[in-house]
Amino acid sequence: MKGIIFNLFEEVVAEHCGEDLWDDLLQRAQVGGAYTSLGSYPDAEIAALATAAAASRAVTLPQVLRWLGRSAIPRLSARYPAFFVAHTSLLPLLGSLNGVIHPEVRKLYPGAVCPHFDMSATAEGALRLGYRSARRLCHLAHGFIEGTAAYYSQGVEVRHLRCMHAGDADCLLEVCLT
Ligand code: HEM
Repeated sequence: MKGIIFNLFEEVVAEHCGEDLWDDLLQRAQVGGAYTSLGSYPDAEIAALATAAAASRAVTLPQVLRWLGRSAIPRLSARYPAFFVAHTSLLPLLGSLNGVIHPEVRKLYPGAVCPHFDMSATAEGALRLGYRSARRLCHLAHGFIEGTAAYYSQGVEVRHLRCMHAGDADCLLEVCLT
């Protein structure tokens, strides 16, 4: 996992809970913590940090990852405004993930392994995103989607119709504007 994701984690923890908590999480997770945005670090370290955050705040791991995704979007949109101002609402931005955003991310962060989403629209106008990754970060994706909806001042409901964490072979997220 690229260091930028760890940097975002540190920034949102420091902003919402204070620097001391981040230091505490590094200790609990038994990780070094010297993450540079372009560096690559073991996926196990993000899992250990998120697990430590869940334990320290008495919340679940999915809640932490969702919160991280949601809270990271204001920072990602400040760092990479072009991806966001190219659209005026959530669904077109999600439609640009496979063809624009994540391919650009792979150029900006050599070695990045970004997910591909199988997209389909429902008759009711919802968007379904099929997701399969060894990292199993569907809850992070869920939070990114909520954060992006908030960026466009839209309400959204994200449902996990299938989930690797529930024993399914892949995840299927349904995104409905509310
Ligand atoms: C709502 C929009 C987005 C969704 C749903 C999304 C989803 C994800 C997910 C689930 C991952 C974890 C990797 C995996 O599953 O294997 C990921 C990785 C990543 N995404 Fe996105 N993403 C979004 C927007 C963005 C934007 C705007 C950026 C801007 C730079 C970005 C940059 C990255 C980076 C750097 C990684 C790490 C890749 C790596 O460490 O190898 N994403 N994304």
